[in-house]
Amino acid sequence: EGIVPFYGQHQAGIITPAQNFLCFASFDLKTTSLAEVRKLFQAWTEAAAVMTTGDLIGNSNSSLNLPPSDTGEAAGLSPSKMTITFGVGPSFFDERFGLAGKRPATFKDLPRFRGDALQSKWCGGDIGIQVCADDLQVAFHAIRNLARISRGIAVLKWTQEGFQRTGTADPSSGTPRNLMGFKDGTGNPDTNDATAMNDIVWAHAGDEKDWMKDGSYMVARRIRMRVEIWDRSSLSDQEITFGRHRDSGAPLGSKNEFDPLDLEAKDSSGQPTLPMNSHSRLAHMDGGTKILRRAYSYSSGIDNKTGQLDAGLFFISYQRNIEKQFIAMQQILAASDKLNEYIVHVGSAVFACFPGTHKGGYIGETLF
Ligand code: HEM
Repeated sequence: EGIVPFYGQHQAGIITPAQNFLCFASFDLKTTSLAEVRKLFQAWTEAAAVMTTGDLIGNSNSSLNLPPSDTGEAAGLSPSKMTITFGVGPSFFDERFGLAGKRPATFKDLPRFRGDALQSKWCGGDIGIQVCADDLQVAFHAIRNLARISRGIAVLKWTQEGFQRTGTADPSSGTPRNLMGFKDGTGNPDTNDATAMNDIVWAHAGDEKDWMKDGSYMVARRIRMRVEIWDRSSLSDQEITFGRHRDSGAPLGSKNEFDPLDLEAKDSSGQPTLPMNSHSRLAHMDGGTKILRRAYSYSSGIDNKTGQLDAGLFFISYQRNIEKQFIAMQQILAASDKLNEYIVHVGSAVFACFPGTHKGGYIGETLF
């Protein structure tokens, strides 16, 4: 109970319903040996499969004279639906490992978008690992032990923790609210719809590179919210920004959260009910371009320069093709989204998340 299977056709943590907490880690490789990278992924796969079931790594060696084989802080805790999802960044395909020819053509660092204020300390990485679980200590334990196992071969570049309301706080598990107070995730495609997931999320044989078949491309953006400015704007201004009612989550002019967006609707003065520059309307595009969002809120202390909260959305999306999906969408949002008054993108990374593996195999085996 509480176990999400680690092995399978796809990696867990992509179409898995979002757990309560996120621990994200980006690593840079210190080795230039592909054999060492392979060994690392073999060790990581083994450790991830064990930790996912709630067990300790290495059957807890008991020699008092040696450091324990597991750091121990998750001992006795439930598996908490933990998932561990691995991917590699565009830099993994530079000259170091001789894999340049294996890079999918559209898989590269994102272009600069209007309004970006990226800080290198929140950007990129050779390897990205997304750990999600219903318990933060369980998720942290996984990242910590994966970092420990990689010592000498890979080093942490940046990490980010994220949260949303827990199942205890919301037993009905409705759509979580982001830190602007709006339900976030309503317009997501249905993860139980295999046809939609095949279309939107999973890479196919023949798409670009066959090693990515059954994998997915991840975009991560650390988006800071200008909370203080947002908190001073009127409810009406806030609702116009998203094109949705704050309380119900319904599109403006509609009653229920899951009512479809009506792009044609006009109010009594002939204005579109859903403002042309509202976030939902723009992100909806023509209705045919979709992504799977799996974002978490973050709060990381205060900005020392201004004394204001460093809080916002750690945006994660999965898609089959970053160029056709995320980039096409973000270009529109960056140009005209009313939400831009209240947010600033400060971090950015993309990772090609491998297909899943079976017992005895390892994550990354289709590439190296
Ligand atoms: C919809 C919040 C950034 C793509 C929404 C909604 C909210 C929201 C409240 C309406 C409810 C829903 O459908 O989930 C935010 C916040 C952001 C942010 C607070 C930044 C801090 C982004 C980015 C993208 C994006 C960067 C992609 C480039 C979408 C999409 C929808 C959506 C695709 C659904 C549109 C539809 O109904 O078809 N977002 N979002 N969002 N957002 Fe965002």
